[in-house]
Amino acid sequence: MPGDYERAEEAAEVIREALRMHPQLGVPRIAVVLGSGLGAFADELTGAVKIPYNSIPHFPVSTAIGHAGRLVIGKLGELTVAVMQGRVHPYEGYSSRQAGFPVRVMGRLGVKSLLLTNAAGGINPTYGQGSLVLLSDHINLQGSNPLTGPNDDRLGPRFPGMSEAYSLRFRQLAQQAARELDIALPEGVYAALAGPSYETPAEIRYLRAIGADLVGMSTVPEVIVARHMGQQVMAISCVTNMAAGMSPGELNHEEVLEAGERVRGTFLALLKVVLPRIAAEQP
Ligand code: HPA
Repeated sequence: MPGDYERAEEAAEVIREALRMHPQLGVPRIAVVLGSGLGAFADELTGAVKIPYNSIPHFPVSTAIGHAGRLVIGKLGELTVAVMQGRVHPYEGYSSRQAGFPVRVMGRLGVKSLLLTNAAGGINPTYGQGSLVLLSDHINLQGSNPLTGPNDDRLGPRFPGMSEAYSLRFRQLAQQAARELDIALPEGVYAALAGPSYETPAEIRYLRAIGADLVGMSTVPEVIVARHMGQQVMAISCVTNMAAGMSPGELNHEEVLEAGERVRGTFLALLKVVLPRIAAEQP
């Protein structure tokens, strides 16, 4: 029976085929996943090939608002970057395994470094709306793991370690770039919940007590899959709102998208400097 290895290979082959018509692009070694409201980065790439998710076999298609649902592979200066404009989440009804599948495909294509971005609620009171936060670690509270089920040793080990889920070296490079650009970039621990309802104030107090600085509904399945395959990971959250109970009024998705728009410039500037540097670290 075909498993994720075969499915990811089949998907990767369709992407390789599209890339063969753009030989100047070569093969991407670095991939970026853009979260809610952060899709604009894909427009920065030149000579790009755009592949809708629904034309890639087995690729899960996003239903969330603010997610375009396509893979854009193009050049950022000299560097070929694969950008996923949109992702799927367990709250859409996809399994954690399906949420991690695009990262499998990137791995089969030859991607070694992954930069994930997301919209998150701020729990750490030192953050504000619009803060960019570099993930130092995560707490998986989604109640699922993308590696559940039989393990395919061709993809990675049965029990992968998560001690350095977020590359220390990449974090140093990001901090260095942020300093040069005069961008504040605190680090934080991301708690992933299943959603789709936002949290209650009591849940936020609980998350703060267990050491979370941020809360969101994505990213962790992709990080686990990437680490399983031996990819190096970096992740940046955009604090689109302070978490439930921390500021007056109800949370809403429009606010999340708007805040993404507002940090667009800073976010783009940071990515443009950081990506070539993390790519240069690859063996
Ligand atoms: N909670 C969970 N996910 C989120 C939030 C939040 O407050 N903001 C953006 N994504």
